[in-house]
Amino acid sequence: MKTIIEPFRIKSVEAVKTTTVEQREEIIKKAHYNPFLIPAEDVLIDLLTDSGTSAMSSKQWAAMMDGDESYAGSKSYFKFEEVTKKIFGFKHCIPVHQGRAAERILFTFLLSDVDKDGRFVNSGKGKYIPSNNHFDTTRANIEFNGGEAVDLVIEEGKQPGLIHPFKGNMDTKKLRAFIEKVGAKNIPVCMHTITNNAGGGQPVSMENIREVSKICKEYKIPFFIDACRFAENAYFIKIREKGYENKEILEICNEMFSYADGCTMSAKKDAFANIGGFLSMNNEDWYQNCKNLLIITEGYETYGGLAGRDMAAIAQGLEEILDESYLHYRIHSSKYLGDKLEANGIPFIKPVGGHAIYLDAKSFLPNIPVEQYPGQALVIELYKLGGIRAVEIGSVMFGKYDEKGKLIPGDMELVRLAIPRRVYTQSHIDYVAEVLIEISKKKDKIRGVKIVEEPKFLKHFTAKFDLI
Ligand code: F0G
Repeated sequence: MKTIIEPFRIKSVEAVKTTTVEQREEIIKKAHYNPFLIPAEDVLIDLLTDSGTSAMSSKQWAAMMDGDESYAGSKSYFKFEEVTKKIFGFKHCIPVHQGRAAERILFTFLLSDVDKDGRFVNSGKGKYIPSNNHFDTTRANIEFNGGEAVDLVIEEGKQPGLIHPFKGNMDTKKLRAFIEKVGAKNIPVCMHTITNNAGGGQPVSMENIREVSKICKEYKIPFFIDACRFAENAYFIKIREKGYENKEILEICNEMFSYADGCTMSAKKDAFANIGGFLSMNNEDWYQNCKNLLIITEGYETYGGLAGRDMAAIAQGLEEILDESYLHYRIHSSKYLGDKLEANGIPFIKPVGGHAIYLDAKSFLPNIPVEQYPGQALVIELYKLGGIRAVEIGSVMFGKYDEKGKLIPGDMELVRLAIPRRVYTQSHIDYVAEVLIEISKKKDKIRGVKIVEEPKFLKHFTAKFDLI
């Protein structure tokens, strides 16, 4: 059969509230034109993120009931540890409450010296962490600790309309040149984000992971993977990379992580969990130091800020995400929306990534200059017209300012429509396409925005805007 169906049926449902365009105009104005400030109840279709928004399976809910809430040595931890070892293969696994906690611990440690009393003395200045593209929290955790986050994605990865099977790849020539330029001793770790969220949810090939790992070994730089969407990446390798078509997803995952020294993971993505994550590694000394940081702020080493039931849900979710029929449906359902937009001339990053569609707001709204944030303008329109919540991934999220306060724009002006796992049906997606087609008919009337208030770090979460 040609029709790809959801490989699950629905056992429990959640009502969504309908509002009118007039009501939504008021709501978004009250939220200072920032979708993060809209009460979720007033959103019809929430594509803000695929993080922590998955529908859990009946088996995950059952596992939660069976969660062991012992402070130390809970059976849920041992199950969690067993599954993470099976897939990722690292010696040590520290549970954390979400991905950024793993990042905070890792970069606090790596960008500090440990004094004779075991205290961490920050020394991040002059230290660099390369990646294909760092996600915003990863970048923030590096920069907050005084280091510099460096993006080395291939040039093809920066061109929204260009088709390439692995646009998340890192430019290995640039990596080598960068290491030569700043010196390997100033690079405490090299990261690789799979799939590359900030670059359009684009996958990274096995060949590229292998090559980056080889270069890192040559210069004795530890290599970590940001593993949030590892299973989607593995599926892309299976369908796009020669030699992997007959391999099991688990085998592909094992190979991907065999090239790395550790990983950070947000279980809110490819583990179908609503909260959780982990930090894994092989190095014993790093593990001891990271564990100390964990215990100070997250919790004891066998729960790290999670309830036993959370670890039980993650362990079960990690087993389910390896199911090829799920991944087949997942990747094709994102593409289904992409095909509809393509047929109507709505520009987005091609090919469609794993977890989201990234609309190319710059070419969609050429009348709005970058300084007036075309991505944010489109986000506002999506909410007003359709009650759809999305997020700008452009100069609001990544823009910086020069000494004179002039905007240094991000690489691209995108709007991400992130698709929560197992949550929306095909008719929800048809509706999203219809709203975008309507917007495209009257796009010349859309107004740009200005920022009226913003924090120093991660400004997209709380910044306030006004229409121009
Ligand atoms: N790394 C990547 C690639 C991510 O996409 C995220 C989160 C994180 C790290 C941090 O994980 O949220 O559990 O602390 N991405 C979410 C998103 C927030 O919407 O893309 P976290």
